[in-house]
This record gives sequence, structure tokens and C-alpha cells, in this order.
Amino acid sequence: MQVKILKYDDLGNGLLKINDKVCFVKKALPGEVVNIKIDSSKKNYLKASIINILEESKERILSPCKFYDKCGGCQFLHVKEEEEKRFKKAKCLNFLGRLDNFYETSAFSYRNKVTFHVKDGILGFYEEKSHELVPISFCHLLSPKMNQIIKLFIKKKDSNFQGTLLIRENYQNETMLVIKGEYLYLDYLLQSSLIDNLVYQEKVLKGNDYFFEKILNYKFKVHYKSFFQVNRIGLLKIYEILARFLNNKEITNALDLYSGTSVLGIFLSKFSKKVISVEENLFATNDAKFNLQLNRISNLEVINQKVENVISRFKNIDLVIVDPTRNGLDLKTITNILKIKAKYLIYIACGIDALKRDLESLKEVYQVIEIDIVDMFPKTIHMECVGLLCLKDISKTLVK
Ligand SMILES: C[S@@+](CC[C@H](N)C(=O)[O-])C[C@H]1O[C@@H](n2cnc3c(N)ncnc32)[C@H](O)[C@@H]1O
Repeated sequence: MQVKILKYDDLGNGLLKINDKVCFVKKALPGEVVNIKIDSSKKNYLKASIINILEESKERILSPCKFYDKCGGCQFLHVKEEEEKRFKKAKCLNFLGRLDNFYETSAFSYRNKVTFHVKDGILGFYEEKSHELVPISFCHLLSPKMNQIIKLFIKKKDSNFQGTLLIRENYQNETMLVIKGEYLYLDYLLQSSLIDNLVYQEKVLKGNDYFFEKILNYKFKVHYKSFFQVNRIGLLKIYEILARFLNNKEITNALDLYSGTSVLGIFLSKFSKKVISVEENLFATNDAKFNLQLNRISNLEVINQKVENVISRFKNIDLVIVDPTRNGLDLKTITNILKIKAKYLIYIACGIDALKRDLESLKEVYQVIEIDIVDMFPKTIHMECVGLLCLKDISKTLVK
């Protein structure tokens, strides 16, 4: 069937209407005339894929990745960089009603962490929304060293290996490999100069089960089970936004919620007399406590708890930073944030849908004064949004 694509859907696919039904065409671009095949037909919508392109968009490019058609990792390898940014900006405007700044990072090789699934010794990513493994031998989002480690596994394939392979790399290009599942050629890995730290079935076989990260002059111990932002430049941009916003503000007590290894709390400690970090992961809070000493911070307290279990105890807070998972904030946390009534609220979101929903719940008390995008995950549909909010009562007095 020949169709013309009207516009993008929210996930960067092409959208049009066929007989009053919405039709999503995978990786089709607005304006393109394409022959499609219908892959699935539901009550209210159709899903289709391109058979061939009759009129190509000027925004289309050839994907540099040979796994792109099947792999679910990237969504924007077939469009020009500027078009991807245009899409993200428009989506932010559409979802959140405003966009103040767009912070770029680097287009490729930005990820410092990746998890591969392994089936019968074959390493890969899952196809989009499926558990179908797509074998991968190279990923453009990873560093050259991480890609070399992938090659090691392809060279020494153990067909009985079923499990996962986590690869992390720090600011000094030191690597950490975490293997879950039985793998035969451990000696080969242990001898490789590409691998600095190796954790096998929860046991440390080489180096440590952590390494150090550095952002500006701050150093962070990061256990392999602790969260760290996957894009170091992106984190630097978040620091930039925080510094600009907090400059000249009088903050006595601040909360750093969903704090990980206290990467944000530690940065915050120079703007606030006292900071409290709250994080549920014990490995991350242990790292955070170590990081306080490492960075000689004495005004930060780290609490190992679920945010929703402790938030009701906080009073007299001037600033709350939340950096939750893609699901956003739960009702109990929102209710308590509305009660705490901190002068300033900073919402760092990797899920724009959840941010939209939560801003709606916060709007009776908080006014959004800035929304920024940090392009933390180029080539994918994901982006980090930073919302700067303040109490409605004081918003008029704030000069942006
Ligand atoms: C997106 S990460 C942010 C971490 C940190 N702010 C950073 O920039 O490195 C979200 C963190 O929230 C933690 N987390 C998830 N649900 C939580 C909850 N209900 N209470 C406390 N922490 C939670 C996760 O373990 C993770 O470390």
C-alpha cells in the first residue's frame, strides 16, 4: 500500500491515517511517500513497516549501524542530527509547554555503561519491545575500548554461556566487566589488558567491584551495582544548570532525593548549609558515604531508605532536588513535596511522560520557571529534562 507520512508520533515513527485509523510506520519520516506493509491491526490503530521509499525526506541519511534495522537500542540513526534535535525540542514543547535551553553532548561513543544479554554464547541487545536477541559485534554509542571487549567475547565464544555481560568504563578509560552466567574462558579475560576489573558470578576475580569517576574536581566511588549517569558530559551539563540556578540563592536545608552515589548532593553541598541525600540502594549509599570523605564534605547526610518511607519527616527545607527513575514520583512523595513547600524544586527527569504527569500534580503549589533538555542519550528517543520550579508565591520576585 502506498502512503504519505503526515508527521512524527511521540516515539519518532511516521504517522498517518488510513480509513480513520491511526497508522504508525516504523522509521518513516514526515513527508515521505512509502510503500508499507501492515504488521499488526488493533481496534484503534495499525502498525506498519516500510517496504520501499518512493519519495525520500531530505532529513534521511544512511544509518552507519548495520544492526539498526533490528536492534531496539537506537531510534535516530536514519535522520540528520539537526532533525533529531528538532524532534526532541518539539516533543518537549508539546509535552511540557516550554523549552528554555537545549544542552548538547556528543553524538557517538558517549555511553559509559552497557548490558548485553547472552544466549548460547551470542552477545546482543533485545529487539524493540521483545526478548528476541539481536546479535551485536559493534555499537556506535560505546567507546572504542568497550567495543574491543565485545570482540574478545566474539573471539572466545562459549556456546554454553547464558546470562548477561555488563561493561562499564570510567573517566580514565579503566574498565569493569561483570559476568552473570557460567563462562568458560575466564583465564583469557584475566590476561587481557583491556579488562581492569572483573566480577564473575558476584566474585571479584581482578581489580575491584568498583572504580572511581571524576566530574570537575569531584571524585566518586561507584560500585558496579550503583547508578551513575551513562553520559559524563550530560552530567556536567546538569551541574552547569544547577550552578546557574543556585548562584546567589540562600539555601539552608536541601534534599537530594533518589540520590545514587550523591553525585548531585555533593555538588549541592557548596550551595546549601546542609544537604540530605536519600537513596534506596545500599551499594550506592555506601559509595555516597565514602564519597563524602573522599571529597571532604561535612554538611551532607546520607539516608539509605525509600524516599516515600521517609519524606514525611522533613521540615524547613528550602530546596528539593528529585532525580527519580523513568516512572517518576509516586503519589505519597508528591503529596509530601506539596506539604514541605520548599522554595525551590528541581526535577531531573529521564522520563518526559512522568515529568509531564508530575508537573500537573505539582502545579497548584509550584510554578515552572525553566525547562531544559540535556541531550543525554543521542540517537535514541530518550532525553533528560530538567525542570526548575519555585513556589508560586515567590515566582514573581524571581528574575530568570
Ligand atoms: C536516575 S538515578 C539518579 C541518581 C543520582 N541522582 C545521580 O545523578 O547519580 C535514580 C536513583 O533512584 C534510586 N531509587 C529508585 N527508586 C527509589 C526510591 N523509591 N527511593 C529511593 N531511591 C530510589 C535508584 O536506585 C537510583 O540510584
